[in-house]
Amino acid sequence: MKKIFIILVILVMVSTNGFAQDEAVEVDTPMEQAISQDSLFIIINASFEKVKPMLTNSCYDCHSDQTEQPWYFNIPVINGWLEGHIEHARRNLDFSTGFPFAGSPDLIHLLEEIKEEVAEGEMPIFSYRIMHWGKLIEDEKQDTLFAWIDETIGLLKAHGFKAQEQQEKDEH
Ligand code: HEC
Repeated sequence: MKKIFIILVILVMVSTNGFAQDEAVEVDTPMEQAISQDSLFIIINASFEKVKPMLTNSCYDCHSDQTEQPWYFNIPVINGWLEGHIEHARRNLDFSTGFPFAGSPDLIHLLEEIKEEVAEGEMPIFSYRIMHWGKLIEDEKQDTLFAWIDETIGLLKAHGFKAQEQQEKDEH
């Protein structure tokens, strides 16, 4: 796995260098674009494995299809309350199929939102935390997560992804 990862990193580095040297190459065909985007996402998903366990523990109950349903899920009122939350949460952000996460076409913005929610201790939502201790992502875990987010945003930007605000600015 590590070997494949290293080879992919080299491939992406080589391909980005190629573009930098010859601006004319930048008009790649949609097919080429799709391939380089796919390999970028493979790389991001490989590094995502580093932070996935903490997100699985703290976020997947609401932001994925892999929810661990607690015993009280069988109590109708609570069940309805939780399901409402899960539906709402997954519309905003869904980790189920790995990167790119679903929820917004603006991947950079979505990553920044995750960072913001975790930094402010807003996620997981409070009502869930009272029933589940130790779900906040703090200290070194938080550093690891934020480093991964920054690294990923860097990779996306290096491959021509832009935050939506930037896109709008460019269009004017
Ligand atoms: C108990 C369910 C639950 C858990 C667990 C949970 N969330 Fe959420 N999350 C929600 C709900 C509901 C929303 C949508 C409503 C809202 O913004 O409050 C949401 C929204 C979000 C949003 C979008 C915010 C926005 O303003 O658009 C982000 C980002 C997010 N959550 C990140 C996380 C992260 C990261 C974790 C884990 C550390 C997490 N959530 C854990 C329920 C949850």
